[in-house]
Amino acid sequence: MLTVRAARLDDLGVIVKLERYCFPPEVAFGRQRWHYLLSHAKGRTLLLHDDREQLMGYLCLLEHKGWDRLVIQTLAIHWRVRRQGWARRLLEQVIAHGREQGWGAVRLEVADGNEEALPLYRRLGFRAQQRLPDYYGRGQHAHRLVLALREPAASVRARKAV
Ligand SMILES: CC(C)(COP(=O)(O)OP(=O)(O)OC[C@H]1O[C@@H](n2cnc3c(N)ncnc32)[C@H](O)[C@@H]1OP(=O)(O)O)[C@@H](O)C(=O)NCCC(=O)NCCS
Repeated sequence: MLTVRAARLDDLGVIVKLERYCFPPEVAFGRQRWHYLLSHAKGRTLLLHDDREQLMGYLCLLEHKGWDRLVIQTLAIHWRVRRQGWARRLLEQVIAHGREQGWGAVRLEVADGNEEALPLYRRLGFRAQQRLPDYYGRGQHAHRLVLALREPAASVRARKAV
């Protein structure tokens, strides 16, 4: 059984290590980026640990008040515990919390060839909003996906009018 807790700055080293294993070098966030995310960014990082306190995964989330969106910066699960529903659970936690707090949507970017992540996001209801050519480098296209957390005001008005 894994446990979830909020990341602290002293988790930096192990997070960067797992990031290097989970993403190709041209895509992986470096130490500096993670330092910023853990110390200054508005948002939070959730960590998954096993019973020996080994890092088994993380999800980093930023809050963009101006856009009324939560933005998932990165998500990765250690290969030893993949396909056991842990990424889905972390995302469900973010979605439920976002709804409770009244956020409009959750947004993320995903590489077109990511055959593990695309079905995960689709099954949770994320839909493509924008194509991002060469987003991860030349020929490495991506899509921006969005999950609305609130109904658009127009459809709420239309329903109330019936
Ligand atoms: C993508 C990733 C986070 C998925 O983590 P996970 O904990 O293994 O995913 P889950 O067990 O929660 O899977 C939930 C659903 O996602 C889909 N999925 C996950 N892994 C899959 C795979 N290898 N092949 C096909 N579908 C997959 C399935 O629909 C799955 O549901 P199911 O097991 O009931 O069929 C993990 O593979 C990973 O860390 N990959 C490397 C980093 C990465 O690409 N991160 C995403 C960046 S956008």
